[in-house]
This record gives sequence, C-alpha cells and structure tokens, in this order.
Amino acid sequence: MTPIRLAMVGGGPGAFIGPVHRMAAELDGRIRLVAGAFSRDPDKSAAAAEAWGARGYADWREMLAVEAARPDGAQAVAVVTPNHLHFPVCRAALEAGLHVMSDKPATLNLAEARELAGVVEKSGRLYGLTYTYTGYPMIREAREIVRRGDLGQVRKIVVEYPQGWLSRAIEREGAKQAEWRLDPALAGAGCIGDIGVHAFNLAEFVGGVRVERLCADVSTVVPGRPLDDDCNVLLRFENGARGVLIASQISAGARNGLKLQVYGETGGLTWSHERPSELTLDWLDGPTHVLHAASGYLSGPAQAASRIPTGHPEGFIEAFANLYRDFAAAIAEGRPDAGLVPGIGEGVRSMAFVETAVAASRDGQGWVTLEGALP
Ligand SMILES: NC(=O)c1ccc[n+]([C@@H]2O[C@H](COP(=O)([O-])OP(=O)(O)OC[C@H]3O[C@@H](n4cnc5c(N)ncnc54)[C@H](O)[C@@H]3O)[C@@H](O)[C@H]2O)c1
Repeated sequence: MTPIRLAMVGGGPGAFIGPVHRMAAELDGRIRLVAGAFSRDPDKSAAAAEAWGARGYADWREMLAVEAARPDGAQAVAVVTPNHLHFPVCRAALEAGLHVMSDKPATLNLAEARELAGVVEKSGRLYGLTYTYTGYPMIREAREIVRRGDLGQVRKIVVEYPQGWLSRAIEREGAKQAEWRLDPALAGAGCIGDIGVHAFNLAEFVGGVRVERLCADVSTVVPGRPLDDDCNVLLRFENGARGVLIASQISAGARNGLKLQVYGETGGLTWSHERPSELTLDWLDGPTHVLHAASGYLSGPAQAASRIPTGHPEGFIEAFANLYRDFAAAIAEGRPDAGLVPGIGEGVRSMAFVETAVAASRDGQGWVTLEGALP
C-alpha cells in the first residue's frame, strides 16, 4: 500500500504530543509525514520540517491551500495544537478535502463541536479523534469482554485519572504547556477538558453504555486559576448503571494514573495505565484472572492491537499507532468510518459532558441530564 501523505499543524520543537503523533503515524509504514505548519514561529516550523524531512510552512492556512492543490500533496492532517485551533483547522482541512486526525478535546466548546459534526458530514472525509487509551490492546479486550456479556449486565463504572503536575501554579513560572492549558481562551476548559474527556470516553467505550445524568463538583484548588484543576463527578448510565469519574491535576505525586473498573452482575474488570499490558478479572464466585496483551486467548480486536510477542512491553506510542493504522486502512479502503477510532460523535458527547458538568457544578444544580450529545 502506498503510504497516506500526512500533514501536521502544531508539534514544533519542544511540543509534547506532535512528535508522538509523528512516530505513531509512521510506525507501520502506512502513513508518511510530508508537510507541516509545526509552530506559530516560522523559524521553529522550518526547523521541525528540516528535522523530519517534510515541507515546512509558516502558516497553517497557507499549508492547506498549497497542499490541497499539489498532486502529491497531503491527504490527511493531524491537528496537535492547543485546543482553540482545533475547530478552525479541522474545519478548513475538511473543507479543503483532507481527512483529519485531531487531538482532544474536539473543540473549545459544544457549539463548535456541533458545527464541526455538520462539516464532517458534508465533507465526506474521515474525522478521527485521538482518545489514545482506546488504542490499547487490553482496553479493546475489556470492551469485548463487556460486549460478550461475560460480566453480566454492567452495574457500576469507576474511572479515575489523577495527575499531579499542576499541584503548584507552574503556569505562572513559564511552563508553556501549563500556561495555555489554564488560559480560558486557548483551552476552553481546565482539567475536565484536558483529561476528564479521556476518562468520560473510556467509560463509555469499554462500558458500552452512555452517560445519561450526572452530578458534578468541578473546582479550582490552586488559588487564582481561571479554570478547574480538580473534578469529581457522579454518573448515571442509560441502563441504570451507576458510576464515578475523578479527573485531577492537583493529585500531588500522581503521574498519569488512569484507571478503569467496570463491574457487572457476576464480576468486574480493572485496567490501569501504569500496567497497560494487563487486564484483571475478578469473579464473584471464582478466582481472579489476569490476562496479558499479545496472548493467543484474547479477542481478535485485542490481538490485532499488539505488534510484538507477549511479555514485550508496548505502550502509549503503539496505542496511538493503532488509531493511525485503523485510520489509514479506512482511507485506503474508502470507508466512511475508521472502525474503533473515535469520531466526531464521541467529540460532541465529550464536549457536552464538559459543558454540562462545568455549568451544573458552578450553579449548584445537583443532578442534571447530559443534554446535547449526539447518539
Ligand atoms: N491524546 C493525548 O493523550 C494527548 C496528550 C497530550 C496533549 N494532547 C492534546 O494535544 C494538543 C497539544 O498539546 P501539547 O501538550 O502537545 O501542547 P504543546 O504546547 O506541547 O504543543 C503545542 C504546539 O502547537 C504549536 N502551535 C500553537 N499555535 C500554532 C499555530 N497557530 N500554528 C501552528 N502551530 C501552532 C506550538 O508551537 C506547539 O508546537 C492539545 O489539544 C492537547 O489537549 C493530547
């Protein structure tokens, strides 16, 4: 298969996730980075382009115009900028006829996400959203276990995402990634939009049930911040299941401690990002089982998400690469959706989650319905 030609917006020198996207996209040889407007700073964009052997642009609008017109131009764009640019860049790329792989949150707010859903539909192009954790083999196994009904009906979902890196006001000490994440104009929401959306998506992806109502306590712990840094949300799912979602960036000492537990009538499963190649199954009437990635006894989707034999650790980059591999296959085959890769529907749902939880918490509304989410 001829590699799909990818362009990137963001991901310049010193950026966190752009380089991860590049490595992941190119990991299987099905995608090649050919162009980028990698930074607001033209010199930095040129430096990244040279380092990565891609065509560099000073401005993303110019890049889209030139690349869309070239016969060998980019076919897809990875959007890895701060959040405020997700909507304008995704919209312009789709309207220029390019497929889009965007990082989360989908947009700055729900209105933009809804508008983007219309643009995606009209464009006939693919839109993928990198909810990274959906790409892990044992998360895909967990999803299959729930879908098969091995646990019985889902009754309770607990998802926690503690980080500690914003325990001090480092956004006032020149930490760039903290600066924009705590600026309402650039980030839209705080911790809930940054990592709460991952937790929300994961609960629905694995649990196979949608959140219908919630009761949120979204707060700012470090004084002087205009956005939240700690979120505690009770959930009720459409099938009657109960849940708890915790997302926090002031959990001092925590690194990237995402953990998911799903309990059914006869047992529960636990997955932890710090041991991502394992999935623990606890049974009401039997011994605990620990499943390992890349084992022959796993489901097809889980086996397909590993590249090397069991016992050899794979992780974050490979999980991203699984999203890119599915995305590339869908483009090559001309399919209208990219299988397990989250799309704009998930984007709209999670922006509805963010807006509903923030407003309900601010106004002390207690339990509210999660309105405005696409099915
Ligand atoms: N899926 C995940 O696990 C995950 C992890 C981290 C970040 N993210 C998301 O990725 C995005 C980027 O986060 P980050 O931590 O890499 O941020 P970052 O600050 O490290 O990088 C942002 C990059 O965007 C560039 N940029 C800003 N304005 C630009 C413009 N006008 N044109 C071109 N480039 C521009 C910056 O120069 C920088 O290179 C955010 O939306 C964030 O939420 C997702």
